[in-house]
Amino acid sequence: MVVPYKHEPFTDFTIDENRKALEDAIKKVEADLGKDYPLVINGERIMTDDKIEVVNPANRKEVIGYVSKANQELAEKAHKVADETFESWRKTTAQFRADVLFRAAAIVRRRKHEFTAHLVKEGGKPWKEADADTAEAIDFMEYYGRQMLRIDEGFDVNSRPIENNRFHYIPLGVGVVISPWNFLFAIMAGTTVAAMVSGNTVLLKPASSTPVIAYKMMEVLEEAGMPKGVVNFIPGSGKEVGDYLVDHPRTRFVSFTGSREVGSRIFERAAKIHDGQQWLKRTIIEMGGKDTIVVDNDSDLELAADAITYSAFGFSGQKCSACSRVVAHEDVYNDLLNRVVEKTKEQVSYADPTKHDTYMGPVIDQGAYDKIMSYIAVGKEEGKLMHGGKGDDSKGWFIEPTIFADLEPDARIMQEEIFGPVVGFTKVKSFDEAIEVANNTEYGLTGAVITNNREHIEQARRDFHVGNLYFNRGCTAAIVGYHPFGGFNMSGTDSKAGGPDYLLHHMQGKTTSEML
Ligand code: SER
Repeated sequence: MVVPYKHEPFTDFTIDENRKALEDAIKKVEADLGKDYPLVINGERIMTDDKIEVVNPANRKEVIGYVSKANQELAEKAHKVADETFESWRKTTAQFRADVLFRAAAIVRRRKHEFTAHLVKEGGKPWKEADADTAEAIDFMEYYGRQMLRIDEGFDVNSRPIENNRFHYIPLGVGVVISPWNFLFAIMAGTTVAAMVSGNTVLLKPASSTPVIAYKMMEVLEEAGMPKGVVNFIPGSGKEVGDYLVDHPRTRFVSFTGSREVGSRIFERAAKIHDGQQWLKRTIIEMGGKDTIVVDNDSDLELAADAITYSAFGFSGQKCSACSRVVAHEDVYNDLLNRVVEKTKEQVSYADPTKHDTYMGPVIDQGAYDKIMSYIAVGKEEGKLMHGGKGDDSKGWFIEPTIFADLEPDARIMQEEIFGPVVGFTKVKSFDEAIEVANNTEYGLTGAVITNNREHIEQARRDFHVGNLYFNRGCTAAIVGYHPFGGFNMSGTDSKAGGPDYLLHHMQGKTTSEML
């Protein structure tokens, strides 16, 4: 019997011993930077000449590693391996597959600070965010292992006296997992192990800005006893390798987390049936958000200001769940805005994330930096700049926490995903109008309502159209197994990562009926 699931606790870095442990781990990781990393196909290490240079976003001169890049030939080789390995992997027991994950979780937990230190460097994550990312990776392994055991118990169906009916789920086949750079460990690990523990084989193509952590997870899965060929590690360009794998007639499903642009492209491509293809491909696609915190006239404004500040600027706003819009009742608008500006001035600034008290690190790369800075220029036209607005890309890619006030609900700053430390405020006259403005986006991922009014809580529960709605707290930081996570509308397929039905998206139901 496995012990019941409980989420991994976060590390308290105010305790000297913990702080020292992460400082030591950062030094250890720094000594290990700049290595070459291979592809892993059928357990075999393959070095290619063409490499992805992975740099520290806080210091672009520091190379995290050089990661071998797959081409179409290697992608084809990996696909064949995954296809062949599926024949044996699909026959393994759920217990066997779950045990690999329980062991993998234990390995990561024992070396937790080392992984966290790596995320500080490769992802530019401040300590708290990096620690939460490692904890979430552990949670996904523990949670999905247990969910697989539960699914394996079967589902009740009726039988008549002359028959014996059963209903159970079987895996799909070869899955292509394309993971993002923002939760470089957690989402990469979660999407991979979900596919694998359900009995599928996997082609893992991690984000090109953060592939080293994915190689490290491969090592953990191997150490935990995962047979070769089950998960194959094939980083490479989206256009060359990603498209090839998505289009492949033997690909059975695609699990993608990332931008709306790429997600929509994958969705379209996966819908096309290619020669020799025997199925309709399944897609699990989680994209962006334009997430709103609504602040009611009867509300705790200090709580609201804390929730907004952290949800907007934690990890520099580079979360699909980040708060990028505040919709506040006119009675409290000015007071709230001043509190958020003051709090941000006092508490939030950017710095090197290797220092333990850094609130915000850099944004991920030059492309992100340029895009965010161009949105800040738009914000200056559309609204009133209350704080921040400047960036510095001389060493790494740093942008100040930026607050705009007095925006129209349909301003670009209030409609388009920026994926950076930028939040816009708009004023409304009533709670009805607040919900209307909150829903006035093509996305529908997260949202929060700060209110003491129970009727308004119920109204929002019914009418605020987002996949994850929170009351009297911020809109980020969903926990695996506690807040199943996924969005409506252009945020994706609402597949609810870390939820009780997530694995079923990677499986298909089979009914058997025997006449007695
Ligand atoms: N699960 C993360 C959060 O809730 C986003 O991916 O912030």
